Amino acid sequence: MNGVAGASDSVPGPGDDLPADIVRTIRLVSDHTPRVAVVAGSGLSSALEGMQERARFAYADLPGLPDPTVPGHAGHLVLGEIAGVPAVAFLGRFHLYEGHPVSVPALLPRVAYALGARTLVVTAAVGAIADDLAPGTVVVIRDHLNFLGENPLRGWRMSDGSPAFVELSRVYDARIAALAQAAGAALGTRATYGVYAALPGPTYETPAETAFLRTAGADVVGMSVVPETVPAHALGMQVLGLACVTNTVGAAVDHADVVRVSRETGREIGTILAQVLPQLEP
Ligand code: HPA
Repeated sequence: MNGVAGASDSVPGPGDDLPADIVRTIRLVSDHTPRVAVVAGSGLSSALEGMQERARFAYADLPGLPDPTVPGHAGHLVLGEIAGVPAVAFLGRFHLYEGHPVSVPALLPRVAYALGARTLVVTAAVGAIADDLAPGTVVVIRDHLNFLGENPLRGWRMSDGSPAFVELSRVYDARIAALAQAAGAALGTRATYGVYAALPGPTYETPAETAFLRTAGADVVGMSVVPETVPAHALGMQVLGLACVTNTVGAAVDHADVVRVSRETGREIGTILAQVLPQLEP
């Protein structure tokens, strides 16, 4: 099913050949093999300003990747180095609220894996549920609540053909999370750990939903992350999630503010990544 050199028929997935098709298109231009993949959320491309760029592709030119429809999401795949570490960056992601099935956002980790990356970093704008998380805080995701009403591994088969009964007790790598938190603290960034609740959006939360999420143990809430991190974990990738608090849930919020705050905080996330990525095991 998977015709890419280095990949095999036994890669977990939903049974389509899209990652292989995308990698084949990329390989016509570049043989760059990333070790790490970074997904930049709303306004968070600023985290990748220091990336040494080798090749760039518009999603529209890669088979199966639609153009992002959200302001602040460029829709480019970039190959290069971040702090000397071979990387692939996804500038812009896909969300369920755009009308996509969950298989579309799941393509990003699958393509990253097929290119050779074994670590996935996701960045995302979030609203704060916990009272002590001011806008501009970086939350290192330690766990999540999936309230998408969808499981990103629906229809997946594992290498042996079995359904994806994947254990999710350690989706987010604790060692890399600790490196990120320490790097953030050393830089004077407000960096803390938290639980991310994924909701489908596009609406923000009602007061009753916010109260429910607080009771459920969520520190922050957003509309992405889970459709990327769960497939990455199923593929055996190490995962780091860095959430940027753009607003307090329940207070007035509009997407332009979300993009503005994340653009500023994205630069700090970029500095954290420049510290952490060279410390990853090869
Ligand atoms: N709610 C959900 N998603 C978000 C928010 C929010 O308040 N802010 C940024 N993404």
